[in-house]
Amino acid sequence: MIQFAGVSKSYDTDVVLKDITFTIDKGEFAYITGPSGVGKTTLLKLVYCAERPDEGAIVVAGWDLKKIKQGTIPYLRRNVGIVFQDFRLLPNKTVFDNVALALRIHDMHPQEIKEHVGEVLKEVRLKHKENILPQHLSGGEQQRVVIARAMVSKPTVFLADEPTGNLDVETSRTIMNLFRQINTRGTTVLIATHSEALYHGTGRRVLFLRDAQIEKEIVG
Ligand SMILES: Nc1ncnc2c1ncn2[C@@H]1O[C@H](COP(=O)(O)OP(=O)(O)OP(=O)(O)O)[C@@H](O)[C@H]1O
Ligand SMILES: [Mg+2]
Repeated sequence: MIQFAGVSKSYDTDVVLKDITFTIDKGEFAYITGPSGVGKTTLLKLVYCAERPDEGAIVVAGWDLKKIKQGTIPYLRRNVGIVFQDFRLLPNKTVFDNVALALRIHDMHPQEIKEHVGEVLKEVRLKHKENILPQHLSGGEQQRVVIARAMVSKPTVFLADEPTGNLDVETSRTIMNLFRQINTRGTTVLIATHSEALYHGTGRRVLFLRDAQIEKEIVG
């Protein structure tokens, strides 16, 4: 579902990723880890085409990103749900509108949008807060809105970048349970984190980035 072959990426002279090769299979739940600044976010950005590799091939959900046209990128992104490292909710829009935005872009009928958004807000247990502005939610609730927004277009690949960043243990657990639920439906999940607590004991594949390369792979 996600394939990297000989991928390298530099920012100016700063080599962030060098000759990276790995595959995440359809339906897998995997982690990418490594110290701060090692290139985890950069790697995820390559997956959803926010950055382009200098070398190598990347295939995501059947799209060869080397050949993908600018106009096709929105279709790729519809298939890739993303939870960014910073929340990025629109502050002046309600919970409902933040989640609905992804669907409005796709020209969906308002009634259908209402149903879809209602459904995912129920899943993250925030239906009762749909008319509230993000600033009036707790950090964990805001993160659940971000997850709902990423889920609403029913992506085949789900990326999350440090999804439990500042959240307490209990809230982190709730968030991780949501990812497991998403994965159970067949969605491929890739999580970037520096936190061992997230992958320890999960029995999932963990790729370790170090010095621009995948240093090792373990079962968490
Ligand atoms: N747009 C950019 N321009 C220049 N350098 C960048 C850019 N984005 C990232 N970098 C650099 O690339 C390196 C990797 O950054 P990246 O954000 O991918 O790391 P990370 O592993 O996600 O770190 P963290 O755990 O702190 O989130 C860092 O040294 C960073 O300064
Ligand atoms: Mg990062």
